[in-house]
Amino acid sequence: MTTTPFLPYGRQTIDQADIDAVVAVLRSDWLTTGPAVGAFEQALAAAVGAAQAVAVSSGTAGLHLATLALGIGPGDTVVVPALTFAATANAPVMAGARVVFADVEAETGLIGPAQLEQALAAAGGPVKAVYPVHLAGQVADLPALAALAHTAGAVLIEDACHAVGSVVKGASGPEPVGACRHSALTVFSFHPVKTIAMGEGGAVTAADPTLAERVALLRSHGITRDPARFQRPELAYDAAGQLNPWYYEMQALGFNYRASDLHCALALSQLAKLGAFCARRAQLVAHYDRALAPLAPLVRPLGRVPGQRPGWHLYVALIDFDAAGVSRASVIERLRVAGIGSQVNYLPVPELPFYHSRSDGRRFPGAADYYRRALSLPLYPGLSDDAPERVAAALGQALRP
Ligand SMILES: Cc1ncc(COP(=O)(O)O)c(C=O)c1O
Repeated sequence: MTTTPFLPYGRQTIDQADIDAVVAVLRSDWLTTGPAVGAFEQALAAAVGAAQAVAVSSGTAGLHLATLALGIGPGDTVVVPALTFAATANAPVMAGARVVFADVEAETGLIGPAQLEQALAAAGGPVKAVYPVHLAGQVADLPALAALAHTAGAVLIEDACHAVGSVVKGASGPEPVGACRHSALTVFSFHPVKTIAMGEGGAVTAADPTLAERVALLRSHGITRDPARFQRPELAYDAAGQLNPWYYEMQALGFNYRASDLHCALALSQLAKLGAFCARRAQLVAHYDRALAPLAPLVRPLGRVPGQRPGWHLYVALIDFDAAGVSRASVIERLRVAGIGSQVNYLPVPELPFYHSRSDGRRFPGAADYYRRALSLPLYPGLSDDAPERVAAALGQALRP
């Protein structure tokens, strides 16, 4: 008897080259703070067209460091979309800032200029940063958001945790997410369900090397070993002017948010397959679109943003559960019994008790509408060509009352 494998909604794709890369680090002298870190950072910066990349221990750590590197702290206000993973809002809160949520477009889940304008007005004062989230891999309208943010005196910090490999057609050519053409910093996550798996890990990319240096400083306790930056030469040098070999300076209050060589070796090996992973994900998205078409109008694909090539992280179907007469929980359970995993990305962040108890009473109808209908179906390169058909058939069955 053959059993059909369970299809999770997302998972890593690991091959022998990935395993060999990690084993090579295990056999080397450096498990952390070694050469794999810089090698991955350089390769990532080149892949996304950034001046610099800083590898970190998670996307959350990256968001926290990006916030701190821009000097955002107590007394500052920032704008975060209501529809995202909690970490986008948690990072500025951890830095002591006040978060004003912005609604999102109901069909794409992305923050647009209209939603940002409302949020800037609701902030009732200066805003230091706006955190567009490239949900599912689709890229928010960065030029429009940047224009509004800059007018308000704010910068963009892109939460690109879903969007490594996404490319937008810019005015003067392709703009890969991470190049920071319209933002101060971009943050990636390489959690195993993401397009590139690092175990736990992430990165911050920058066009401005000074900002990247600040992120790197705060990643490792605020410590520098660079003599050019030393602030206390009387401690750094001996009487003969020789640098004391043990000397380093802690110049800011930082963290241990480093990514180890084990993680970076895996990430570097995975990065070599980014193009292939994105192409396969796009193929599967096209299969899903075709396979789900007969279920319209009960089931529709996520609204698509023209003029871009997303590095799809999620396949989100928007489903009218009310019209079907079946609860989303029952559909998820029926899919599970049929061997298919699914997920809801996301309950709007202002509804999470931590934020709800601090709510100013504003409502987010676009996020609520999106949330009511969203269901993420399995998407990862290892999925077979016929899997979208199998998922669509099971979904059709599950939606029968
Ligand atoms: C939109 C978004 N932001 C931030 C994060 C945090 O990334 P990590 O899990 O690597 O800390 C995630 C991860 O799930 C995410 O989906």
